[in-house]
Amino acid sequence: MTSRLDLQNITKVFTDRKTGNSVTAVTDMSFSVAPGELVAVVGPSGCGKSTILNMVSGLYGPTEGQVLIDGEKVTGTRPEVGFMLQKDLLLPWRSIVENVEFGLEERPFSKAERRKRALAELKRMQLADFADNYPHQLSGGMRQRAALARTLAIEPELVLLDEPFSALDAQTKLVLQRHFARTIAEAGVTCVLITHDLNEAVIMSDRVVVLSGRPGRVVDEFAIDLPHRTDPLQRSLEPQCGIYVKRLFDALHLENEEA
Ligand SMILES: Nc1ncnc2c1ncn2[C@@H]1O[C@H](COP(=O)(O)OP(=O)(O)O)[C@@H](O)[C@H]1O
Ligand SMILES: [Mg+2]
Repeated sequence: MTSRLDLQNITKVFTDRKTGNSVTAVTDMSFSVAPGELVAVVGPSGCGKSTILNMVSGLYGPTEGQVLIDGEKVTGTRPEVGFMLQKDLLLPWRSIVENVEFGLEERPFSKAERRKRALAELKRMQLADFADNYPHQLSGGMRQRAALARTLAIEPELVLLDEPFSALDAQTKLVLQRHFARTIAEAGVTCVLITHDLNEAVIMSDRVVVLSGRPGRVVDEFAIDLPHRTDPLQRSLEPQCGIYVKRLFDALHLENEEA
């Protein structure tokens, strides 16, 4: 089967135009994501995680190697790829439903069809009652749900998540992780989830890729062979969870870090 996403021997060097100084963000990195799979990527701060997502989304290309989506080389941004960040990036001057419609505006839908799709997505996120509110009127968790509605409304073939839950309080995070897990499983969406929360990586993913410090390269990669991928809280009750978290901890050499 073709992978949905293939990173093949990616190296990315950033060179400062003024000083000529260069930074190698990632080096010789390869991993794949199968259709419908959720792969978590963990690694120390600055090891190139966001850089990887930017290359997958086509914002810029790698210095060496290539990124393939469904076997096709990525050469620029494409509407089939959804992006979700720690910051929700909702437009403050647009209502929630108008924010969800935003991504649909590049599609050949009539205004009425756009509205219909956006409202259906908000309903799924239990935000139907807030469609006409503005972002500042919503809590952090609700705004992230609205951002997810906007991401899924375009029916993406791939969703890139850059620490989407990290700014939320612990309770909101649990609720949102669960909601998110169910929704993406229903939609059958393929995801790359960047996180520095080792527990989150274990309870939400099918597989984890562990990166070294900068320049990032893959140091470990393994399947999370546990039930309940659609219910992270339920999965967290599995005794094996802690063993996976420990494996990640060891792979990242966190014992050497100062607390
Ligand atoms: N556009 C850029 N120009 C120059 N350096 C960059 C750029 N983007 C990222 N970097 C550098 O590449 C490294 C990896 O950054 P990043 O991908 O943001 O790491 P992470 O998301 O893992 O914390 C960092 O050293 C960062 O300073
Ligand atoms: Mg980052």
